[in-house]
Parts: sequence; structure tokens; C-alpha cells
Amino acid sequence: MQKIAIFASGNGSNAQHIIEYFTGSDKVDPALVLCNKPDAFVLTRAEKLGIPTILFNREEFFDSDAVMVTLAQHRIEYLILAGFLWLIPKNLIKLYAGKIINIHPALLPRHGGKGMYGMKVHEAVIAAGELESGITIHFVNECYDEGEIIFQARCPVLPSDTPERLAEKIHSLEYRWYPEVIESIVLGNPLPGSRSL
Ligand code: GRF
Repeated sequence: MQKIAIFASGNGSNAQHIIEYFTGSDKVDPALVLCNKPDAFVLTRAEKLGIPTILFNREEFFDSDAVMVTLAQHRIEYLILAGFLWLIPKNLIKLYAGKIINIHPALLPRHGGKGMYGMKVHEAVIAAGELESGITIHFVNECYDEGEIIFQARCPVLPSDTPERLAEKIHSLEYRWYPEVIESIVLGNPLPGSRSL
């Protein structure tokens, strides 16, 4: 059984889909949800689904080994970022080299980087006049949104799309693909290339 930990800072709808996807699996165990915001809805979701949660603050994350020790105690093999807004510190990147995965709600390398999250991304995509957007699932390194790309899926951006409507389309792609791509990486069967919907 491969244990994964999900890191999230907010709503946690992706976290919920990932947990539900792996519930009952005998290969991948969504063992832990880690969060840096005491009022994040992801904590409520995880509790309802019976997944232990760990809350940590800035100092514990960046200036101590507390999170690393917790991950080791739970024998976590992969870190899955799902709307987690802090940069991952170097000690964790080193310890989990090639084993930290993030999802970004646009087609990287466009519309990524520090401060590009949530509706800001969809607003930027529309403002740039992009004809398509999508999701990028990638490995995590020391820089925001710059790790090796694992998988992309696309959707058209229509002239009538608002940032809110685009966000809905992107969320559907995320729910459709993120759990499956995580499974393929954790079990060592990479999915072929990128997809269009
Ligand atoms: C998702 O759009 C994801 O791509 C991004 O943050 C958002 C999180 O949404 N990294 P939710 O908290 O999973 O609902």
C-alpha cells in the first residue's frame, strides 16, 4: 500500500475527489490531509471522510522539521498538492524528490508563478485572449509552477466564458484527471501524453 498525503489551503474539492477515488483501494491510501489555514473548508471535508488532518503554521513548516517528522511517522510516500498556496521548503523537496505532485488550473508554462492562483488565473487567461485553457499536473521543485510537466488536459475558452464559467470547466477537468494521474504516478504506469476534451 502506497500512502499519500494531500496538502491543501482552502476549499478542498480536489482533495475530496482524490480521497473518494482512492477509498477502498488496496494500492493507494489517502492517509493524511495537511493544511496551513485553521478555517479552511478542506478540514471539514477530510473529517467527514474520516481522514486525519494536520494543521501547521508558517514557523512549523518553514523553520522546523515538524511536518517532515509527521510525514515519516505516517510512512507517507507521495505528497499531493491540491490548492496548497505555500512554496514547498527545500528539505521536503529533497526528501521527496520526484514524489511531490501539484495541479495548476491553466496550461503551464503560461499563467503560472507566484500569486497566480484561483480566479486570478482564469481572469489572466481571458484577458490574454487565449483560445484554450486547461490543467497542468506537474512535479514540484523549488520554484512555483516550474517542475516537470506530467500531464495536461485542455478545454476551449469561448468568447462568452466568464472567469467563473472557465473555473467550472477547469474544475471538471481536475476532478476527471487528477486522481487518475496520481494513481498512474504512484503505481508507476504513466498515462500517455496530454488530453483534449
Ligand atoms: C484548483 O483549481 C487547483 O488547480 C489549484 O487550486 C484550486 C483548488 O481548488 N491549485 P479546490 O480547493 O480543490 O476546490
